[in-house]
Amino acid sequence: MAGITVALPKGKLLDGSLQLFQAMGSPSLAAAKTSRRLIFQEPEGGLRFILAKPNDVPIYVEYGAADMGIVGRDVLYESERDVYEPLSLGFGFCRLVVAGPPSMAAKDLRLCSSLRIATKYPRLARRHFLERGISVEVVPLTGSVEIAPAVGLADLIVDLVETGRTLRQNGLVEIEQVMVSEACLIVNRASHKLHFATISQIINQIASRTSAVRGMGQ
Ligand code: PRP
Repeated sequence: MAGITVALPKGKLLDGSLQLFQAMGSPSLAAAKTSRRLIFQEPEGGLRFILAKPNDVPIYVEYGAADMGIVGRDVLYESERDVYEPLSLGFGFCRLVVAGPPSMAAKDLRLCSSLRIATKYPRLARRHFLERGISVEVVPLTGSVEIAPAVGLADLIVDLVETGRTLRQNGLVEIEQVMVSEACLIVNRASHKLHFATISQIINQIASRTSAVRGMGQ
């Protein structure tokens, strides 16, 4: 494992990511939730972990600053970063959807002109509407997207739904699904070749754990 750096996402996927690597024997991560430290090194040349903002994980991995990382597929596809994606991890399930006020749900979006869409996922939103032949203006935001229809910033939003609570509590309804997402493992393409044996071993360990977790859930 010597010299391998793993980028883990802060936020909603952190717990599942920490559990996975702790179960594989990385005790340095025990302090990751309470400490302000952002780099954790296993002793004796073991794995090194960095904690990054989710949107930045594909960047660290594409540039090779991290050899591998965990990221939501939604964030990965939005980033369009060139990384190897060998594995889905079976946690962090959520859906990217188009949502809006109930009045919009009744409309045929193809007949609406000049729709404005607020989102943290401008590329995925643009592609979704382009594929459906609907011309839209996309307004990129960085959070609390559910506010946008209520204050007249946008007609619709494209955002993640996990429990559906945020949509409900802000008077919005789901209109259509853009994609399903879950946590996935990504690997730097050069690292995958250079450290093939070590990285394959880590991928296999993770794969056996995630399939075991899936098996228990069935
Ligand atoms: C995410 C997402 C939704 C919410 C969905 O936001 O963008 O707002 O979670 O979860 P739910 O369906 O379980 O309610 P996050 O909490 O990451 O905050 P943000 O909007 O500030 O990015």
